[in-house]
Formats: sequence, structure tokens, C-alpha cells
Amino acid sequence: MKDANQRVVWITGASSGIGLSLTKRYLDGGWKVLASARTQGELAPLLDAYEHLTFVPFDVSAGNQIDAMKETLSALTSHLDCAVLNAGTCEYLDMTDENPDWKMMDRVMSVNFFGMVNSVDVCLPLLKKASRPHLVGVSSQAVQAAFTQAEAYGASKAATRYFLSSLRMDLKQFNIDVTCLLPGFVDTPLTQKNTFSMPFLMSADDAAKRMHTALESRPYEFAFPKRLSAMLWIGRHFPKLWLSMLAPKTDNQK
Ligand SMILES: NC(=O)c1ccc[n+]([C@@H]2O[C@H](COP(=O)([O-])OP(=O)(O)OC[C@H]3O[C@@H](n4cnc5c(N)ncnc54)[C@H](OP(=O)(O)O)[C@@H]3O)[C@@H](O)[C@H]2O)c1
Repeated sequence: MKDANQRVVWITGASSGIGLSLTKRYLDGGWKVLASARTQGELAPLLDAYEHLTFVPFDVSAGNQIDAMKETLSALTSHLDCAVLNAGTCEYLDMTDENPDWKMMDRVMSVNFFGMVNSVDVCLPLLKKASRPHLVGVSSQAVQAAFTQAEAYGASKAATRYFLSSLRMDLKQFNIDVTCLLPGFVDTPLTQKNTFSMPFLMSADDAAKRMHTALESRPYEFAFPKRLSAMLWIGRHFPKLWLSMLAPKTDNQK
């Protein structure tokens, strides 16, 4: 049955990892969830189980899909109370390769940074129609200190963080709150290929629970876990110590 007060959230990158766990949390909280990714992935069983879940395919890096996405979302809802822009990818630059794959920088920026820009373009008109809208973007704790091989990933997430902080100022006039989430290491397909140690690694369900709870108070930023934030604070302020001792290293750097 339709509930006029049911809140509506759009989540990108909902087919796996953090986005999938967040989707379950919003569904269990009674929200209508419009879930996007390029593929249904692990969302498939949820689509049978929850009638208030709809899969809306979207490649965030495809600027030519923006207009169609606006129309599709508008046909599904009159407004968005919340948008969680979480879609992301990670590829690493291998400097041991004689010909490093520099084009990878473009691929990562296309999804992580321009994908977020495209997603804001898609959802802004519907956010403006909500009474108390909330725009949420997923950056990373990787922006707090340099990580090995993360030339593209870290730069894309730093760009994302700045984009969101600037948007926060410019969307205030429309009463849209903007939150930037900065998770630490989460055990998902994105990190399962990492060859360096990942301090304070969390499960996707644990990360989603912390994010979902934090979002209730609409902070400007939420970085977690705090133990990693503390370690990265030291790394930022004592960069020589970070480089020589604290920063996670791959086997050939030890
Ligand atoms: N895992 C971590 O430790 C960690 C830490 C900090 C921040 N984050 C960030 O958290 C977010 C979620 O990552 P995750 O760890 O949950 O990774 P994941 O399990 O690999 O999930 C990534 C999600 O993004 C979607 N996606 C990838 N490329 C896309 C594209 N071009 N268009 C639309 N959707 C796309 C994927 O679906 P399809 O492939 O079906 O499109 C998938 O649903 C990312 O922004 C990531 O950078 C992760």
C-alpha cells in the first residue's frame, strides 16, 4: 500500500558492498529505495523481497544517460528526501611497471568524481522538491594522508570532498543539507584486491550501520573509524614518520 509519508532515497552503487548494506538499512527503516548501479548484482534477491525497492540502472560516468535518468526518477517519485551518492571504483597505479597505465587516472576520475557530478545533476531537481532534503556523498579516509598506489583513487576522493564542501555552501539557500562520508577500510570487492595491510578493516554491514546512524544528525562530514582518523592525523602532521614507518606498504616497498 502507498504511504504518502514514506521517505524516498536514491542510492548509487547499490549493487555491492557498502551501497548494498546501506540499501538494506534504508529498506528495513521503511524508506522507498531507488537503487542504481550498472548491474543488479547482489540486489537481485532483495528486489523479490521488498516491494518498496526499485532498481534503476545508471552508469554514473555516462553523461549521455543524465536526461533519461532524470525522467526515469521523476516517473518513480515526486521528490527525493535523500540521495546517497556512493558509486565508486578503485584502480591503482603500478610504478614498478615500465609503462604505467596513466589512462587509469581518467577512468577513476570519470566514475568517482565526474560520476558524482553527474549524479548531483540527476537528483538535484527532485531534492529541491522535498521538505527537508539531504545530499550525501561518499569520499574516503584516504584523503587524510597519502596511500601507496592511490594516485588516482585518493585524488578522485579529495576532489569529491571539496566538491561536496563547496556544494554545501551553495545549496544552503535551497535548505539542502550536504554530508560527506569518509569511511576507513571496508571489506568489499573494491578492497579485496589490495596487497597492503588495511588497519581497522570493517565489514560492509558495520560500515553501513555507522554511516546510517551518523546521517540522522546530518553532519557536514563523518570520518570513521576514529582510530584510523587518529592514525591519519599523525600521518598528515608528521609526513616523514608516515612515509618511513606508519603508512601501509606493499611487499616490494618493505
Ligand atoms: N571499501 C572501502 O574500504 C572504502 C573506503 C572508503 C570509501 N569507499 C567508497 O565507498 C563506495 C562504495 O565502495 P565499496 O567498497 O562498497 O565497493 P564495491 O563493493 O566495489 O561497490 C561499488 C559499487 O559502485 C557501482 N559502480 C561502479 N562503477 C559504477 C559506474 N560507472 N556507474 C554506476 N555504478 C558503478 C558498482 O556496481 P556496478 O559494477 O554494477 O555498476 C557497485 O554497486 C565507493 O565510492 C568507494 O570509493 C570504500
